Amino acid sequence: MKVLKVALGRNSYGIRIGAEIMERTGLWLKEEGLSGKAAVITDSNVGPLYAARLEQSLKTAGFTVTILEIAAGEAQKTLETAAGLYDKLAAAYLERNSPVIALGGGVVGDLAGFIAATYLRGVPFVQVPTSLLAMVDSSVGGKTGVDHGQLKNIVGAFYQPRMVIADTSVLKTLPREELSNGMGEVIKYAALNKYFFKYLEQNIEKAMVLDEPVMEQIVLLNAGFKAKIVGEDERESGRRAILNYGHTIGHGVEAVTGFKVKHGQAVAIGMIEENKIALRLGMFSRPEAEKIEEMVYHAGLPARLPELSHEDKLKLIEAVKHDKKVVNGKIRFTLLQSIGRAVVTDKVTPGLIGEELFGWSSS
Ligand SMILES: NC(=O)c1ccc[n+]([C@@H]2O[C@H](COP(=O)([O-])OP(=O)(O)OC[C@H]3O[C@@H](n4cnc5c(N)ncnc54)[C@H](O)[C@@H]3O)[C@@H](O)[C@H]2O)c1
Ligand SMILES: [Zn+2]
Repeated sequence: MKVLKVALGRNSYGIRIGAEIMERTGLWLKEEGLSGKAAVITDSNVGPLYAARLEQSLKTAGFTVTILEIAAGEAQKTLETAAGLYDKLAAAYLERNSPVIALGGGVVGDLAGFIAATYLRGVPFVQVPTSLLAMVDSSVGGKTGVDHGQLKNIVGAFYQPRMVIADTSVLKTLPREELSNGMGEVIKYAALNKYFFKYLEQNIEKAMVLDEPVMEQIVLLNAGFKAKIVGEDERESGRRAILNYGHTIGHGVEAVTGFKVKHGQAVAIGMIEENKIALRLGMFSRPEAEKIEEMVYHAGLPARLPELSHEDKLKLIEAVKHDKKVVNGKIRFTLLQSIGRAVVTDKVTPGLIGEELFGWSSS
C-alpha cells in the first residue's frame, strides 16, 4: 500500500492506495478520531458488490452504519437526489461528527461530497472511489457538486475529504468501457507530466489487464500529480487550467453527440484534435503527437471524431466558442508544446478549428 499526503494546511489528508485495503476503512476512520454513526452513499451497481464489505469493516470498528443506495448514473447527480438523502440522514440521526462515506464512481463521490459539505453545514467526508476515474481524478481536488437542468456541476462546493481509500482490486468489476473512459483522463494527466508519461507508455498494456502493482503506481502518480497542481491552485484560478488539455474540443464533442460519446472518449478525441491544432501552429512535434495517439489506441479509446453532419460541425465550433474557458470573447485553449509542457493560448480561432478538424478552407 502507498499513502499519498495531500498538503492543504488545515485541510491536509491522506490518499491510501493499494489492493484489498477497503477492509481497513473502519480502523482508519477510528484512528482519525471518528466514531458513532456513519452513512455510506453508494449506487445500484457498486452497492451490491461492495457495500457489505465496507459495512463489515465499519461495524467491526464500532460504527453504527446506514447504507444509502441511489440508482447508478449521472442522471442521479441532482438536488432532488440530495434532498432524498438529507431526509434519510436526518432519519438516521446523523450527527456533526458522523462521517459520510462515498462508495462508488465520480457520480457518487461528487454527490456525497456535496451532501457532506452541506448537511449540518459540513460533516466529515470520506471517499472510497471505485472507478478508475474517481481514483485518479474526481476524488482529488475537493470539488463536489450536482448538475442542475442542462448544466453539469453547476451547484456545488469546494470541500476536502478527511481521507481517500483507493482499493485498486475493485477495478476488476468495473465495466471495460469505464476502464477505458478513466484511462482517457489518465492519458491526459500523463501528457502533462514527462515522468508519468514515460511510465504509462511502458505499462499501458499491463494497466489494461489490471496488473496490480501497475494500477497502484498509476493511481499514485496520477492522484499525486493532480494533488500537486490543486495544492498550487486550490480554487482554480491559474495553474489548474492546464488540466483542460483535451477538454475544450472534448466538451464540444460531448455536446454535439448529446453525451453519447463518453467523457473519457471525448477527451481522447479532444487531445488528438487539439494536438493537430498545436502542430499547425508550429508549437508541437509530430512524433510526440503520435505517441499520444498510440496510447489512446492501446486504451481502447477512439482517436477520430465521429461522423458529423455539416450542422453538427457548426454546432461543435459554437460549443467550443462558448466553452466556460472563454475570456473576453477569446477562446482559451490548453495546448501542448511538448509532452510534459502545456500552455494556455488564445491564438486558436474558430476558422482554424474548422480548417484542422473538418478541412474547411478559411477564405
Ligand atoms: N469532482 C471532480 O473533480 C470531478 C472530476 C472529474 C469528473 N467528475 C465527475 O465524475 C463523474 C464521472 O465519474 P465516473 O466515470 O466514475 O462515473 P460513474 O460514477 O457513473 O461510474 C461509472 C459506472 O461504473 C460503475 N462502477 C463504478 N465503480 C465500479 C466497480 N468497481 N465495479 C462495477 N461498476 C462500477 C458505476 O455504477 C457507473 O455505472 C461525472 O459526474 C463527473 O462530473 C468530477
Ligand atoms: Zn475530464
